[in-house]
Amino acid sequence: MNFEEKLHQIFPTADAIPAQYQLEGELHQREYLSDGEMKPWNGDVHTVLSPICIQTPNGLERKVIGSYPLCGQAEAIAALNAAVEAYDDGRGEWPTMPVSERIACMEKFTGKMIARKDEIVKLIMWEIGKSWADSIKEFDRTVEYINATIDALKDLDRNSSRFEIEQGIIGQIRRSPLGVVLCMGPFNYPLNETFTTLIPALIMGNTLLFKPPKHGTLLHYPLLEAFGSCFPKGVVNTIYGRGNVIVAPLMESGKINVLTLIGSSKVANQLKKSHPKVNRLRAILGLDAKNAAIITDKADLDLAVKECVLGSLSFNGQRCTALKILFVHSKVADAFLQKLSDAISKLKVGMPWEKDVFLTPLPEPQKPAYLKECIEDALANGAKIVNENGGAAFESFVYPAVLYPVNEKMKLYREEQFGPLIPVLPFDDIETPIEYLIESDHGQQVSLFSNDAGELASLIDPLVNQVSRVNINCQCQRGPDVYPFTGRKDSAEGTLSIPDALRAFSIRTMVATKQTEENKKLINQIVTEQTSNFLSTKYIF
Ligand code: G3H
Repeated sequence: MNFEEKLHQIFPTADAIPAQYQLEGELHQREYLSDGEMKPWNGDVHTVLSPICIQTPNGLERKVIGSYPLCGQAEAIAALNAAVEAYDDGRGEWPTMPVSERIACMEKFTGKMIARKDEIVKLIMWEIGKSWADSIKEFDRTVEYINATIDALKDLDRNSSRFEIEQGIIGQIRRSPLGVVLCMGPFNYPLNETFTTLIPALIMGNTLLFKPPKHGTLLHYPLLEAFGSCFPKGVVNTIYGRGNVIVAPLMESGKINVLTLIGSSKVANQLKKSHPKVNRLRAILGLDAKNAAIITDKADLDLAVKECVLGSLSFNGQRCTALKILFVHSKVADAFLQKLSDAISKLKVGMPWEKDVFLTPLPEPQKPAYLKECIEDALANGAKIVNENGGAAFESFVYPAVLYPVNEKMKLYREEQFGPLIPVLPFDDIETPIEYLIESDHGQQVSLFSNDAGELASLIDPLVNQVSRVNINCQCQRGPDVYPFTGRKDSAEGTLSIPDALRAFSIRTMVATKQTEENKKLINQIVTEQTSNFLSTKYIF
């Protein structure tokens, strides 16, 4: 049996799927949350096909998971109006609610979310082909993120529950919401990354328009009831449909105050430009990246290989933080490539529910063809596939390919492959990778592999001004989530971390007065009678 035939065999027959991982029937969503109601939908729908194919008498078929509404502009504008009305120019119930009550709503939501864990985890796995273990991790990490966000907000509020007096001015400074937030997440972390913007935006008192990612949509359906019942009417509104049809009119309306998108810089640019009042629009963006690893001749090659495998192939390379190009000193290149190829050959290929599986099918239907194009382009420009079976593909599955030596003529030199291809470049002069990073349109992170402190120090100083995180002897990654996650150039706008996100979706606002006896009396009266939610010394325990 050749390797492609073996790849064919990784796909199961329907009855070979273990019962605990099977979906309970197809999920056909015919409603969406808007203006506090689950609105029925009888129009066009999008059929959701899993990256997991099933062996049938007619050959391999992508499993149908269900379908979701393909709403149009009218429904999107109605949802926008609901969010605008719920915000009510900052006078709505939600933006004026005391922080402690907003936290109580969020805690109720988290409880309901946890109750739907099994369903959501299964949908993550079936919709995007993420391993069962990683799908569980994604869910748990999201719940931890919400709980940590609640704690961070309590801290923020405690620090703001006091007055300051400077130069005869009494002031109380808090953070206030920004308005209506349009929130769009990516397919690779459809729950976690979406919620790392949605949750802080929401808890800070903004109202939301939430468009689930194209792949990874149905997994949000079990949460719509919770969004509807835990927050006031119109605070969370969902929009479904083709992005190019429904999103542009929302931006053109000028009623979106914050755009938050984890996706491509091209889409972010277009959307920002379509907003008529550029200065009013805030953007919190996580965009393209092409993180490099630099492996010098003083690196521990075994460690470098281990981290580069994790960095370039975790979730099949579909992470914005993935290592997408490796620079290796030519003295150690052969040894590195040999060890890298050996390590890849040991990775388990299979279905997402299999124990210890590492490589799984890809959710984007066009991706295998694109990756093939990248490989052919690299081969035509002088690279070779170094590892055994590299680039072999069958239906939605693509086996990792290590391509060497890569040069500037190849697509893989600049394009973000977002898949299991590992371009490797040899270098003799350390200026080669540094120049690459300087010229790159991206500036998220870099990984340096060396055991020489002097060499590392000489790289750290120039590189911290090119990217936003320099990782030493380890892969690039977002977490832990309390650390700042951002990027330079086309890679990001704004900084996300648990505490930073609360700041990103709010603005510092103060109430101030001159320190006169009359004013002190007035302020004391407001605070004692608890007639203002803003001007208050109430302390959240
Ligand atoms: O897709 C980009 C994610 O933010 C990466 O997160 O580094 O924790 O996998 P991660």
